[in-house]
Amino acid sequence: METAEFETDLSLFKYDNLEQLPPAYRELGEDERTERIEAALERLGDDVVILGHNYQRREIVEHADFIGDSYQLSKEAADSDADYVVFGGVTFMAESADIITDDAQSVILPSMEASCPMAGMAEALQVDAAWAELTAETDETIIPITYMNSYADLKAFCAEQGGLVCTSSNAHKAFEYAFEKGDKVLFLPDKHLGENTAHRLGMEDEIVDWDPWDPEGTTAEEAVDNDIILWEGYCQVHERFREGHIESIREAQPDANVIVHPECRREVVEAADVSGSTATICEKVADADPGDTWAIGTEIHLTHHLQRWHPEVNVVPLCGDACMDCNAMRQIDPNYLAWVLEELVEGRERNVIEVAPEEKELARVALDRMLEI
Ligand code: 13P
Ligand code: SF4
Repeated sequence: METAEFETDLSLFKYDNLEQLPPAYRELGEDERTERIEAALERLGDDVVILGHNYQRREIVEHADFIGDSYQLSKEAADSDADYVVFGGVTFMAESADIITDDAQSVILPSMEASCPMAGMAEALQVDAAWAELTAETDETIIPITYMNSYADLKAFCAEQGGLVCTSSNAHKAFEYAFEKGDKVLFLPDKHLGENTAHRLGMEDEIVDWDPWDPEGTTAEEAVDNDIILWEGYCQVHERFREGHIESIREAQPDANVIVHPECRREVVEAADVSGSTATICEKVADADPGDTWAIGTEIHLTHHLQRWHPEVNVVPLCGDACMDCNAMRQIDPNYLAWVLEELVEGRERNVIEVAPEEKELARVALDRMLEI
């Protein structure tokens, strides 16, 4: 099989960008595209598995063999023996799939533009430099923990320093693991998940926000006076929710249950009835009684899927029309899916995500540590 090079211009903020597609694919209408995707899938049979993250649009998840959050999809990737894993998600998820699948399997990301801005807020090189500053200020052991939403080289860095990876559903366990091994935690890149986890563990008085590049902010010397050091990263989609949205929903629909993702700000998590990972949000709605109302504080596509999948439940977006979709997730236009699949039928692999072997090995250690907790 030929591995084709395709020029990409990685950009975080272009919306719905079809520029990297061959022109014939840019104009495909929905009916023709659906037909062609189905025909390609028929030809490829068991050679391909399509994974669809919950935040992907309907036209992607309707073709997925498995739909789930990043953790569930990584497990599906690991269990699959398909030659090609086509990942409807963002780069860090496809990287994680590449880390845990066999070397003979190829992981394909339909659009190389699908890069999570939060993962980009903690580049391994930056963290390496900041780590040197931090560790120079203390003799105590700091354990780095990175959220799954980070690149493979940062996962590898954490493994090298005795740390691990976590997801939003097991961050508290990762903290417990770290405090058994060391004295302090550096949590990357999502400060809100870190803060919410510290509260869950009753360690809210031990946290400090640290931005090594802010000349006015906390210094490394001050940061190490605290047990939990939070990197200055956040998700633009989840940061948008405010307590006011919860107040408005409660006024308009007093029976509503409010659930938010732990990437939301602390005050939003406190005001909600429940905070939970993507998988927890899906479970709560699936287990709801008919007629119950659930207001959802997360990426808007998931809210829309839940409305379609559970019509007996009143599922509402927490901030109405102001709720955001994730721009990175949205880069996976279904026309890209049609293209990568038809290229596979022709024997050409496009947009293969390959983690460098030395990083792969270490990142795997960080992921395995997470699986053991
Ligand atoms: P999970 O799939 O782990 O919930 O995270 C995806 C994500 O990007 C949350 O913002
Ligand atoms: Fe990244 Fe937020 Fe999008 Fe998740 S929702 S992929 S954290 S930008």
